[in-house]
Amino acid sequence: MDWTVTPQPPFAARVEGVNLGGTLSDADIHRIEALMDAHAVLVFPGQALDQHQQIGFAQRFGPLDLGFRKMRSGPHRFDYAELADISNVKADGSLAGRDDPKIVGNVANQLWHSDSSFQRPRAKYSMLHGVILPGFGGETEFADLRLAWDTLPDWQRRLIEGRVAVHDVVHSRFMLGDTAYSDEKRAALPPVRWPLVQTDPRSGRRILFVGAHACSVDGMTLAEGRMLLADLLEHATQRAHVYTHRWTVGDLVMWDNTATVHRGRWYDFSERRELRRATTEEVQTSPEAAALAA
Ligand SMILES: [Fe+2]
Repeated sequence: MDWTVTPQPPFAARVEGVNLGGTLSDADIHRIEALMDAHAVLVFPGQALDQHQQIGFAQRFGPLDLGFRKMRSGPHRFDYAELADISNVKADGSLAGRDDPKIVGNVANQLWHSDSSFQRPRAKYSMLHGVILPGFGGETEFADLRLAWDTLPDWQRRLIEGRVAVHDVVHSRFMLGDTAYSDEKRAALPPVRWPLVQTDPRSGRRILFVGAHACSVDGMTLAEGRMLLADLLEHATQRAHVYTHRWTVGDLVMWDNTATVHRGRWYDFSERRELRRATTEEVQTSPEAAALAA
């Protein structure tokens, strides 16, 4: 059976007729990468992958990312440290209480962000698998950062061209009152700098790289930089640029963190919601980021 690719406005696509837990050829992987270049978010329904299959699929796209677990490790429900537990469930399988750090993570996920933009290398593809879903809410929204650049007014393009933002993992956590991080833990994930405008090395499209981890802009006062970042994120996440994913068990949703931001939506934390994420590191970075690092 050939694959069926159905666009999901305004930019994502749904891909059916492929078994991600089965044997995929190099040509299949290249085809998925080309679809990612075009759409930035792909939905693969009806997958039902076990942990091993999900890791195996993710590894085809590059080295796997540990992300936030570099700073807050501890007991884990999964066989692989590289699988992020996107749930409201504790390591022992019970529901997390409202004051549990796990729930702060759930709330932080409801801010528009790019996974692991707070580290170098940053994340490329995230692959999130729906296992147990609440009866209401818990959608994931995605906004296209290429469209954000394409529609940015000229005066604002001139204002930000060549500028660099600082991304810090604790910025959004502090904002939510989650401040229990020792200097030692913070040293595991020091802030990093990313150009605000970057060119995708594969598609050649320009990208407005913003999100909740961005906390200041080099060469600007804190106040002006933060307001600029807030303004740019508001532009990037306008409703016409957003794809909303309503989850069904078995969905595998794959997104490009260098070309999109995303956020989880509200759900009742007293209902179980379990998703599993594998994430790859970016291998081939933008020319702007390479020049900054040099
Ligand atoms: Fe995320």
